[in-house]
Amino acid sequence: MRIQVKVGKVGQGRDGVQVFAALEGETRPERVLPAYAARDRGLTQLLAGAGFRGARNETAFLPRGNRWVLVVGLGKAKDLSLEAARQFAGTAARTVRSRGHRSLALPVLIDRALGNAASVAQALTEGALLGLYRYDKLKQVPKHERNKRIDAITLLVERAGEVAAVTRAAEKGEVIAEAVTLVRDLITGPSNIVTPTYLANQARAIAKQHRLRCRVIPFPQLKRLGFGGIVGVAQGSVQPAQFIVLDYRPARAKATFALCGKGITFDSGGISIKPAAKMEQMKYDMSGAAAVLGTVKAAATLKLPFRIVGIIAATENMPSGAAQKPGDVVKTLSGKTIEVINTDAEGRLVLSDCLHYAKRYKPDCVVDLATLTGACIVALGAEAIGLMTKDERLAARINQAGKVTHERVWRLPLWDEYAEMLKSDIADIKNVTDTGQAGTVTAAKFLETFAEGLPWAHLDIAGTAWTERDKPYIPKGAVGIGVRLLLELMEKWR
Ligand code: BES
Ligand code: MN
Ligand code: ZN
Repeated sequence: MRIQVKVGKVGQGRDGVQVFAALEGETRPERVLPAYAARDRGLTQLLAGAGFRGARNETAFLPRGNRWVLVVGLGKAKDLSLEAARQFAGTAARTVRSRGHRSLALPVLIDRALGNAASVAQALTEGALLGLYRYDKLKQVPKHERNKRIDAITLLVERAGEVAAVTRAAEKGEVIAEAVTLVRDLITGPSNIVTPTYLANQARAIAKQHRLRCRVIPFPQLKRLGFGGIVGVAQGSVQPAQFIVLDYRPARAKATFALCGKGITFDSGGISIKPAAKMEQMKYDMSGAAAVLGTVKAAATLKLPFRIVGIIAATENMPSGAAQKPGDVVKTLSGKTIEVINTDAEGRLVLSDCLHYAKRYKPDCVVDLATLTGACIVALGAEAIGLMTKDERLAARINQAGKVTHERVWRLPLWDEYAEMLKSDIADIKNVTDTGQAGTVTAAKFLETFAEGLPWAHLDIAGTAWTERDKPYIPKGAVGIGVRLLLELMEKWR
C-alpha cells in the first residue's frame, strides 16, 4: 500500500476514484460539497436528484465524465470531528475496494472543528487503513475477492506549504494503523495458534526489530520466583505460561510508563467453568496484552521520548486435574495471599503479579488494560472503556486522550467502602465478592491492593475490545482498542 500526498482538488486528479465529502443539511451548492472539494454544480444537482443527503457514512458512487467519483457523507457541520474524518476515510476506502477499484484520492478536509491539516491527515490515514483490515490467513479466499485490494491512497492538500507536515502525519498514521493491525491479528488468531508462547515470540520479534530489551520468564521459573497469582491460573493448562517484559528505553527519557496487559489466551473459566454459549469468544481475553505489545511497538517506531515497559502475564485459564480449585489460597509476588473463590476471576490474579512487578521501575504512570469483567459490558456496553483511578490528574489526561482518539473512557468510583466486600476469612483478600454487586469496581479494588503506592489507572476493556457490529473503520470482531488511546496519552505527557 502506497500513501502519497499531492496538491490539488478532488475531482481534478488522476489518482483513482475521486472521493468527495458532503455535509448534511446544507442547501447552498458550495456548502454541500464544501470548499475543500472541487465545486461541481452538476454533481451537486445529480446528488440532490438521487436523494443523497450527506448523512454520516452515506455513499453515492457515480460516473462523472470518463471516470468514477465517490461521495461520502460527513454528517452535519456541527458534528464535524476527527472521528468523522476517520469514518469518512474508512467508508471511502472500503466502498472503493468493494467496487473493484485499486486506488482512491481523499481530500484533507479543512474545518475549524478539525484542527490542522496534519491531524486530519493522520485521522484519514488511520481510518482508511483500519477500515480496510481483514483477517484471511485461515481461509481460502476466491481469487476475484483476493484481487479486490487497494494499492494506493492519495491525500490531496490545498497548499504546497502543507505537503511536508501532511506527509509526516500520514507516515505516523501508517505506523499506528500497522500496530493496531498487529493487535487485531493477535486477538483474532484462535487460541490454538495464539498461545502464551506465541505472544512471547511476538514480543521477542518486536524487540529484535526495534532493538528493545525483552525478558520472558517461563512457567517453571515463575513457580520458583513466587509469581503465585499467575502460577495458580496457569497450572491447569498444558500450554506453559509466559511472563513477558518488553522494555523500550530511549536515551534521556522524560518519564517512565509501565503498561500492564491481561494476556489470557483462552478463558474457559477453569474449574468454575463458563457456559458453552459464546465461549469461543474467550480467545479475546488477551486483548489487553495485545494492546500493550502494539503500543510499545508503535512508540518505539515513533521514537517517543519515554521509557515504556510493557508487562504481560500470558497464560490460558483451563480446567484439569492440575487446575487450581475454588477455595485454594495462593501467595502472590507481593507476598499477599488470595483466596480463590472463583477460578473464573483469573484476570485479577495474573494482574496482581504484573502490578507488583511494575514497582521495580519506579514508573511515573502505570496503566493496566484488561478484559476484566462481564459487569463492565453490562454497565457501559461497547461505547466506553471503564476507567478507575484515584489519581484525578491521570483521570483527566486519559479522558482527554479518549476524546481525541474516540477510544472513550467513562470513570467509575474506587471508593474504599467497596473493598469491604473482598475480605477473606483465611487469606489477605478473596478474588470475588459474595453478592457480585459492582463487579467492575470491586475487581478494580482488588487490583488496587497490588498497585499500592503506584500512580495507577485501570482500564476495563471487556466491552470495547470486541465489536459485534461492523463500523466504518472497525470491521466486526477485534477492535484493537487501547493503542491509539495510550499513544495519545503518552504523547501529550509533560
Ligand atoms: N474474561 C472474563 C470477563 C469477560 C467476560 C470479558 C465476557 C469479556 C466478555 C473474566 O475473566 C471473567 O470471567 N470475569 C468474571 C468475574 C466473576 C467471576 C466475578 C465475570 O465477569 O463474570
Ligand atoms: Mn474469567
Ligand atoms: Zn478472563
